[in-house]
Amino acid sequence: MEIKIETPATAGKTDICLIPLFAKQELPEYCRDLDSRISSLMQGSMDAGEFKGEANQTLLLATQDKIFARKILLIGLGNKDKFSARSWQLAIATALRTAQRAKATSVSLYLPDHIDKQISNLYEITIIAAYLGTYEFLEYKEKKQEQKLITSLTLLADAGSNAAAVIAKGKIIGESISLMRDLANHPSNHATPTMLAETAEKIAGEARLDCKIFNRSDLEGMNMHAYLSVSKGSHEPPKFIVLQHNKERKALPTVVLVGKGITFDTGGISLKPSKDMHAMKFDMSGGAAVLATMRAVGLLDLPLRVIGLVPATENMPGGMATKPGDIVKASNGKTIEILNTDAEGRLVMADTLVYGQKFKPDCFIDLATLTGACVIALGNEAAAVIGNDDKMIKQIEAAALKSWERVWHLPLWDDHREQVKSDVADIQNTSKGKAGTITAAAFLENFVADIPWVHLDIAGVADTSAPKPYGAMGSTGYGVGLLIRFLECFQAPETKKQEEAPVAVTAPENIVAHQPEKPAAEKKAKTRKKSSLSFG
Ligand code: BES
Ligand code: ZN
Ligand code: ZN
Repeated sequence: MEIKIETPATAGKTDICLIPLFAKQELPEYCRDLDSRISSLMQGSMDAGEFKGEANQTLLLATQDKIFARKILLIGLGNKDKFSARSWQLAIATALRTAQRAKATSVSLYLPDHIDKQISNLYEITIIAAYLGTYEFLEYKEKKQEQKLITSLTLLADAGSNAAAVIAKGKIIGESISLMRDLANHPSNHATPTMLAETAEKIAGEARLDCKIFNRSDLEGMNMHAYLSVSKGSHEPPKFIVLQHNKERKALPTVVLVGKGITFDTGGISLKPSKDMHAMKFDMSGGAAVLATMRAVGLLDLPLRVIGLVPATENMPGGMATKPGDIVKASNGKTIEILNTDAEGRLVMADTLVYGQKFKPDCFIDLATLTGACVIALGNEAAAVIGNDDKMIKQIEAAALKSWERVWHLPLWDDHREQVKSDVADIQNTSKGKAGTITAAAFLENFVADIPWVHLDIAGVADTSAPKPYGAMGSTGYGVGLLIRFLECFQAPETKKQEEAPVAVTAPENIVAHQPEKPAAEKKAKTRKKSSLSFG
């Protein structure tokens, strides 16, 4: 999408001009001027009660080419006293989606002065809203070219001097969310582990990341038998994806992101029922979120070292497949009794978390469509957050408030830890208790050592079968915004800040990122202290 800013007075031609208005608001002066040229259609529809400015209400008016836009779309912002940045984002996403449905390809959006004062990152969230609202997945539609999509958005505002930079940032985040949605929406015969690996390589090229792909034989060499046990029934080769931002700058604050990358989950020998099985193409949503976030991290050039790990594989039944009761040894030496081959996510995540430890990260965040129990507990309304570090959990909650991606904290107690102990091996991949989401996390905890770690079970929020006025059905893009908001605030522990060596960094154009002050000599060896996380 091409995004530009023009002053309201010099607006160029577009198909539809979007005008946001509060309930009971008088037309602002700029609109009164426009209205006088279209026979008071705006005022008339307000007087007649056709447009009341209720939250997300829309009304399309034809201008008969008397102004710069062929149509005006009034969009309601609701009551002024209930207004928030979130209600703005939903209204704008709804308006752009409505305009796209009305076949507009170019739109302008009037940004009144007072909105700018009420919302601190107005431009950024407006751009993100535009991407969220206009997203469509048309890849497999024969008449794809005939579908009209909005390709140009003009913000009508008297913008401040750094507006262009903020727009560039909003675009990077918006595009990355759309990338995640594309990846997750592709069916599993296209979005194979190999396709994800190729996408990771493309992302690495675009966002200047380091990329390494490990194959089945590499995984065998690394003793990743928990991960391999899931791949055994499939003819699609597994691909373990490792993306790194600021790979060599080891003294920077380091975050490892892990995303479950099951490109299709049949359940394996513990076969799932066929009803709704098709939705298991979304079982790589955590992985897609990590790939897309890594793109944004690289393009924004965040002053952190970030490693994205995606264990990609199918989970299939077959002659070679793992059978219930089989025991495998994970790469940290722990033995796992696989009582249900459908609890495969925790198996691939286990070896991946062990691998992640080698980066000596300051923290781990994992995202996984891990348990049906999470959908029972929280529905499609929130992801479950579980971890071993309260401070980090609070920071994830704070990030989620900023990206409007709900999380709900669940406990992790010794009772739960007991429930994944096996009678014949060290641990088992099912639970002896009932809290399936928590015990899945209790299982994962065996593989994070003492590193601060947060697990997000996104089973209920990764995809939706219900299209909304502000968003398409299918992948929701959940997680990308949250991770970026978390990473933006993540700072080096005090001790570590001293260690970072001066490194020449050529920031790509369009980038809004703050390189940290470049301190003295780099000491490669670093010790991680638990609870040494700090955030801005
Ligand atoms: N991918 C599923 C979890 C899931 C269910 C995601 C529904 C999205 C919607 C996961 O691999 C799984 O099947 N988990 C099992 C675990 C059980 C066998 C212990 C589950 O939740 O039923
Ligand atoms: Zn499963
Ligand atoms: Zn699964």
